[in-house]
Amino acid sequence: MTSRPAPHVAMRAIVPGHIAIVMDGNGRWARRRAQPRSFGHRAGQKAVRATVAWCLRNGVGVLTLFAFSSENWKRPSTEVGALMDLFLKALDKEIDELHKNQVRVRFIGELSAFSEAIRTRMQHAAIRTASNARLTLNVCVNYGGRWDAAQAARRAAEAVARGELDAAMIDEQTLAPYFCLADVPAPDLFIRTGGEHRVSNFLLWQLAYTELYFTNTLWPDVDDAELDRALDDYARRERRFGCAPTAARGG
Ligand code: IPE
Ligand code: IPE
Ligand code: MG
Repeated sequence: MTSRPAPHVAMRAIVPGHIAIVMDGNGRWARRRAQPRSFGHRAGQKAVRATVAWCLRNGVGVLTLFAFSSENWKRPSTEVGALMDLFLKALDKEIDELHKNQVRVRFIGELSAFSEAIRTRMQHAAIRTASNARLTLNVCVNYGGRWDAAQAARRAAEAVARGELDAAMIDEQTLAPYFCLADVPAPDLFIRTGGEHRVSNFLLWQLAYTELYFTNTLWPDVDDAELDRALDDYARRERRFGCAPTAARGG
């Protein structure tokens, strides 16, 4: 018997509960100012602050930011070093304010690659803010969508080996809990700044039915007006999840 989705599944989007952002364009922003790329990364921190404040004001419940991909280690060591330094400083600088605003902060990715100092700071930030409930901020670092799929498959295989999961029962529902961000709804809106129209190994599994929004604005230039434009665009979308369009329903 084929199961048909309930007719209410297709719906007009309003405020996205979960926004995922590829924060791209820091390097170009710096180059336009004849500055090193690290200058752009530092400037990008201001846009992160503005975006968190905007999410709090607009009632967005989950914000997932792509801060460092599993491929970004391929960059020159000076840039990677500057980024690590920035993460450390940002963790110290921002955490009080985030906690005050009831933001729960988590770090998503293969964290073992980071220095002890960074890992400790990440862990402290996550523990300190764990019971905050106004906004969940997922910071993806050394994250890759393919890494996520591999770690999900590995953990599922381990559950099979322990006799907790029947391999024959593995399907989308039983595999889903092993992916990162399984405890929050899938992103409703994906935003990529910086003009590139690609996902760059971000949340490959989780973006299956996410609405995509691309802007040429470079990440450090992102402000309320830019985010409002993304929200307006999203509000005009009809999310169908494979259903027939609303106008065609019943025809
Ligand atoms: C995004 O900006 C930040 C990271 C990937 C860490 P980029 O550094 O990729 O900036 P562009 O794309 O080169 O301008
Ligand atoms: C994606 O941006 C990763 C982050 C924003 C952290 P990249 O600049 O690394 O992506 P590509 O290289 O343009 O695909
Ligand atoms: Mg880039």
